[in-house]
Amino acid sequence: MSETLERWGSKRAFILAVTGAAVGLGNIWRFPYVAGENGGAAFLLIYVAFVLLLGLPVMMAEILIGRAGRRGPMQSLGALAAEAGASSHWRWLGLFGAFTVFCILSFYSVVSGWSIEFLVASVNGNFDGASAAEIGAGFESFLASPGLLIFNHSLFLFMTMTVVAAGVAKGLERLNNLLMPLLYGLLLLLAGYAATTDGFGTALSWLFLPSFGDVTTSVVLHAMGHAFFTLAVGACALMAYGAYMPDDQSLPKAAFAVAVLDISVALLAGIAIFSVVFAQGLDPADGPGLMFVTLPIAFSELPWGSLWLSVFFLLLLLATWTSAINLAEPMVATLQGLGWRRSVSTLAVALSVWLIGLLSAFSFSTMAEFRPLFGRNVFELVSSIPPDIFLPMGGLLIAIFAAWVMPQVRVKSALGVGERGYLLWRTIIRWVSIPLTFIVLLGGLL
Ligand code: PHE
Repeated sequence: MSETLERWGSKRAFILAVTGAAVGLGNIWRFPYVAGENGGAAFLLIYVAFVLLLGLPVMMAEILIGRAGRRGPMQSLGALAAEAGASSHWRWLGLFGAFTVFCILSFYSVVSGWSIEFLVASVNGNFDGASAAEIGAGFESFLASPGLLIFNHSLFLFMTMTVVAAGVAKGLERLNNLLMPLLYGLLLLLAGYAATTDGFGTALSWLFLPSFGDVTTSVVLHAMGHAFFTLAVGACALMAYGAYMPDDQSLPKAAFAVAVLDISVALLAGIAIFSVVFAQGLDPADGPGLMFVTLPIAFSELPWGSLWLSVFFLLLLLATWTSAINLAEPMVATLQGLGWRRSVSTLAVALSVWLIGLLSAFSFSTMAEFRPLFGRNVFELVSSIPPDIFLPMGGLLIAIFAAWVMPQVRVKSALGVGERGYLLWRTIIRWVSIPLTFIVLLGGLL
């Protein structure tokens, strides 16, 4: 059943590609603000536990399906279901994944556009000598200008879709090799700076000393959604990357490396951001603007602040770029699998994401009070329901497919581990990941 596809150049390239998909807005922008809104340390602890118990095993399931199928998500699922004598309806899971990433990319592109704006502003030195209040007010007025948001959203989407149109593997390899170490180094530096501020101690205890009194079902649901979101799991996006995985690579080792990198990036960003929050007396539950306000404040106090800030926004932009490419890939692959040409598929995806993204861009001004569901506006809806509900749902089905439906000889060989490793994975996914995801989802939905 193997259709020849491009392969990643090396094992390291595969790990970097998956890390590129995983590390993005989720770690640096979304983690701090969702943790901020959900009480800090308890959220962090639950989220890390979910990454290990749910995200990681499901990530392996998702990638192994792609690796065993060696084609686009819908086609891999369909072919493997046929091989197992199961219903061909499993292939719709690929479509559900494509729908999920569609919703996610629509707001992701808007927020990534903010980084473009902030990159330009820091290169121009606009934050030099600005006070915390001025920086906060500047961000508010930026959000209230839909024209600017739309311009940056369009630019970011254009950047993303050009790479997708060209085919992913080659361009990404080179970019990731350089980008990840640089981003990591800069975050280390920032966290080092944070350690010198007054807010550092408070930030550490706020992040690492949980008080379980504040844990509600909603906190648990958000922590689970974020675990899937940050690892890029549950939308068949990594399935598409698994299809290019080298034959002789151990999947659990690769997945584990990605998870460790991913969590540590979030922690470094969290330490840096919350130190500033507490040093400046800001509110941790400040919502989506948190990072965009705190980091300019932090950097404006450093020598060469604008330079560092520019480098930071450049790296952030590149990190979100690699994630966005991964978000777009399953949609394009799905359309291509239905017989469309790659160029036409890319154009169709670009145009529709752009259009729906406009609703998010307007959610900070003209459409702020348009609240179609649960009292939330469009940005609030697309940035919460797809990550918190759709990704875990998709992940649950992916896990069931790999753990119970697929012929287990195929699973074992696609995992690329020995008997013991395979049994460990199977036990965890069957008896921990699947039931736990189900229970948290059900609790959250009720
Ligand atoms: N993991 C990415 C981030 O943290 C977002 C993402 C979600 C990418 C789902 C692909 C699929 O920014």
